[in-house]
Amino acid sequence: MVKKNEGEIIRVSGPVVEARGIDVQMADIVRVGEEELMGEVIRIDENSFIIQVYEDTTSVKPGEKVTNTNSALSVEVGPGLLGSIYDGIQRPLQVLEEEMGIFIKRGVDAHGISQEKEWEFTPLVKSGDTVVGGQVIGTVQEFDVVHKIMLPQHIEEDTIKTITSGTFTVTQVIGTLESGEEIKLSHKQSVRTPRKYNTKLAPSIPLSTGQRIYDVFFPVAKGGVAALPGPFGAGKTVTQQSIAKWSDADIVVYVGCGERGNEMTEVLSEFPHLVDPKTGKPMMERTILIANTSNMPVAAREASVYVGITLAEYYRDQGYNVAMMADSTSRWAEAMREISSRLEEMPGEEGYPAYLSTKLSNFYERAGRVQTMSGEEGSVTVIGAVSPAGGDFSEPVTQNTLRVAKCFWALDAKLAEKRHYWSINWLKSYSLYHESLREYFKKNVDENWGNKVTQMMKLLQEEEKLMEIVQLVGSDSLPANQQVILEVTRIVREELLQQNAFHEVDKYCPIHKSNDLIDLVLYFNELATSASSKGVDIQDIIASKAKYRISEVKNSEDYKPVLEEVKEEMKKEFDSLIKKYS
Ligand SMILES: Nc1ncnc2c1ncn2[C@@H]1O[C@H](COP(=O)(O)OP(=O)(O)OP(=O)(O)O)[C@@H](O)[C@H]1O
Ligand SMILES: [Mg+2]
Repeated sequence: MVKKNEGEIIRVSGPVVEARGIDVQMADIVRVGEEELMGEVIRIDENSFIIQVYEDTTSVKPGEKVTNTNSALSVEVGPGLLGSIYDGIQRPLQVLEEEMGIFIKRGVDAHGISQEKEWEFTPLVKSGDTVVGGQVIGTVQEFDVVHKIMLPQHIEEDTIKTITSGTFTVTQVIGTLESGEEIKLSHKQSVRTPRKYNTKLAPSIPLSTGQRIYDVFFPVAKGGVAALPGPFGAGKTVTQQSIAKWSDADIVVYVGCGERGNEMTEVLSEFPHLVDPKTGKPMMERTILIANTSNMPVAAREASVYVGITLAEYYRDQGYNVAMMADSTSRWAEAMREISSRLEEMPGEEGYPAYLSTKLSNFYERAGRVQTMSGEEGSVTVIGAVSPAGGDFSEPVTQNTLRVAKCFWALDAKLAEKRHYWSINWLKSYSLYHESLREYFKKNVDENWGNKVTQMMKLLQEEEKLMEIVQLVGSDSLPANQQVILEVTRIVREELLQQNAFHEVDKYCPIHKSNDLIDLVLYFNELATSASSKGVDIQDIIASKAKYRISEVKNSEDYKPVLEEVKEEMKKEFDSLIKKYS
């Protein structure tokens, strides 16, 4: 029997449910059916409304009840988020698994953060202080991270009435405001509205990834957006994982969205064992994982992306640099397509809804480097994997992502087939951050950084042209100076661009080491070019041996002594060649 404050389901179509009989507003969270599955109102018609349901609707039938929670989709924020593994609607998978095994019952409610754990709270404000929403009012220690406790964002201007230091759970009252509102360590945060900040800052600091091709040729700024499109098996997941492990982000939010269960299992089983290279502590202590695999309900893919970006913003607002990975945004777009078609909306390009582009840009626009409400600096960098069918980058999801992403990391099936990893196509990829990062690299890495990168990019472009000729008539017909270029670019490709994500040492290459390797390759270029101009036969240049030791440099932990040796060897080799020809 449907009661007074209950609506009634009139139609069920996969994750889309139509109901009537209660007042709802757009984006209200409702409970659907006898099992009280979680859903969100996405359309209101004259006599009914449409809900997208975040859980499996298999057994839900017309006639069953619908109730309104009168609140929007939100997450619980506060200490205890780090180290968590969530499903798409912030239900903690580890906790649920302990309670009910690996199959989560439907309609289950579970808190996103422990309600029992106690935290030592140190206030940073005192009674009488004027405060606003989003402002930091104190701290607790969450692993090695100083977790800044912030006032809920809805608070306008208010005054602290009481505030107490001591040990609290996230639900206990730690203080009060003059307006009567109680302050706790945790609060609810809507996921659809971006969190407030003071001002947006320029993207002038790179997110160092520890991966040469990304850091040197196509850098992403902290607060920037990178699109990572690639065909099946080209390295999207490995890239996201490597950046999660090795980048200099303080906090990582990793969203596995609609990917195969086994890929996510890898992440779920690997991450808890990873050791943070910077602290020697478990990597999970600065990571939040959100797992929403392909066998989970499609509507929850969208929720998982929004939950992810909101948690990322929450740590940004504490003054941290956060990197958020979404693997893969195409699965989210496919969910939009499925829901849109069940709603019988007018399909746009390739069946995706016309609002695909708006949805993607609204999401990516939440990346940024900001000054927080407390005057600190924080950032959210978003790296979105895209899985275009057949690796065709002209499809709508890739194209609409490119409109908002300033970094385009184009993975290439041919390179992956050849086992050239990272299989980033260096001619198709680009970064629009070079200019805004120039000063940083100049100051912190090398005075001449910009010129060196441009020089190498030019060599690679030249190689592309020369290869066309080589394919027609062979390399022997090229003049010696052009054969030198081909030899140099071969080294650039093999030693600089290629990087084995699984090699003990080369999995992580700090920017200064990248710079030293670049200098070494350019040194070879200088020696070879000069020798060639002095009449040394190109075959002798190609046969020189010291250059093969560049890989030894990149694969050595303590590489500086090797680097010096190799340099000296190169010099000796070329000196004797020049002598031979003079
Ligand atoms: N930098 C790298 N070093 C070594 N191996 C790599 C590297 N990048 C990719 N690979 C290899 O490529 C394989 C496929 O990569 P990955 O799983 O990341 O592809 P994907 O683009 O996520 O594929 P899918 O579309 O199936 O999700 C990896 O298992 C690994 O063997
Ligand atoms: Mg993958």
